[in-house]
Amino acid sequence: AEPSENLMEVINTRLPKKIQGLLWLIGQKAQKEGFKVYAVGGFVRDLLLGVPNHDIDIVVEQDAISFARKIVKYLGGQIKEYQKFGTATITLKDGMKIDFATARMEFYPFPAAMPEVEETTIKHDLYRRDFTINTLAFRLNSDKFGDFLDFFEGSKDLEQGSIKVLYNLSFVEDPTRIFRAFRFESRYSFHMDDSTMGFLLNALENNVMQKLSGTRIFEEFQAIVLEPNPSVILIRALELGVLDNIFGKCSNPQQLKQNFKHTMDSIVCLKEKGILEKKDFILVYLLVIINSYPKKVFEIILKDFNLDKGSRIIIRNFFDVGLERIEKLKSNKHLDPSEIYDSLNGLSVHSLCAMMAIADNDLLKNRIFLYLEELHKVDVEITGNDLKEMGIKPGPVYSKIISRLRQQKLNGEIHTKDDELNYIKSLDLKERGR
Ligand code: CTP
Repeated sequence: AEPSENLMEVINTRLPKKIQGLLWLIGQKAQKEGFKVYAVGGFVRDLLLGVPNHDIDIVVEQDAISFARKIVKYLGGQIKEYQKFGTATITLKDGMKIDFATARMEFYPFPAAMPEVEETTIKHDLYRRDFTINTLAFRLNSDKFGDFLDFFEGSKDLEQGSIKVLYNLSFVEDPTRIFRAFRFESRYSFHMDDSTMGFLLNALENNVMQKLSGTRIFEEFQAIVLEPNPSVILIRALELGVLDNIFGKCSNPQQLKQNFKHTMDSIVCLKEKGILEKKDFILVYLLVIINSYPKKVFEIILKDFNLDKGSRIIIRNFFDVGLERIEKLKSNKHLDPSEIYDSLNGLSVHSLCAMMAIADNDLLKNRIFLYLEELHKVDVEITGNDLKEMGIKPGPVYSKIISRLRQQKLNGEIHTKDDELNYIKSLDLKERGR
């Protein structure tokens, strides 16, 4: 699209009718109430790329919160206000979300040479953003609905697949943009231009990643693992020194790179089998990363990454027991199904997936599949009641009997409930607890 263009046609042909109607209503309301409002950011970028994106971001030149209040009154739904940031989010009855932000003019002053035009406020708001491809906007006000705003050659960069920052210190000011650059590169097959890459390396030389809290880094990792190919992004972060900047020196970068590749294969495979979900990916990647960094990274991630308790337990468990099981499961030595079961029982699916990625060994993979698809479902049919009826005194012997039964069952020695009963009868008296 050309800067002078109106995007009406693109809006009408590429957006679902529901969103078109919504934008139009917002524009009419803005016009009536005397606000200047714009659709901005990723929503506009993806509209021009033809990529579906239903997260509508709206900038309001005056007060976004009071405008959002009028909209929610008009359309219904829920509103959440963030006074401190001058933003509000509306969740419509059908679950759709619209973000409203007040145009911000602080931060970097324009380079003096930048010719001023009438839209100073929205222009400043767009200038403080991360990359030119994210500075695109269009007007919503009904008198100029769809008018395209492209102050920083964003549409040219979008066409050329170029990721460019707007000012030299962009990555220093907000180091999370480094991860964002990698995400956009990978998601759209774009590339940073040379000077942006230079600014990035320069920021890393100044150890900018150290400025970020564990929580922010964790949030960025979460965004990364939701991209179509997280491993490519993490390999880029590793190769450019971003991971080392956060965690210290990687013990074996070449190995970690391979592990990232295999992580991708493993998560795809386990996801296809319905064993792993997208929300589980983050933990798999964290295990793979921790495994290649000094011991203190384990502590840092457990302490600073804002993980829930379940995730922390999984991480501890993986390094306490999971890691050492890899050797046993890789070895050519014959293992009975019950031995495989005992080696893997108690480890989470994240741990099993990380083991597959780290070991990259077919025998181990097959054993894990056998466990996930068959062994872990094997259950003993008789219950404590049955044992009681058989005259066995309740006590620790119960769980011993059950696990002996499971072992027999796993190894295919017994199959039915009758087999189980007969097996118990065959145990010597002492073991039956009499
Ligand atoms: N932004 C920024 N610096 C950041 C994060 C966000 O400048 N560290 C700006 C970007 O210009 C972005 C906008 O804020 O367009 C909204 O952020 P977000 O919703 O995270 O970005 P999207 O571009 O929509 O990214 P995604 O497609 O991954 O949701």
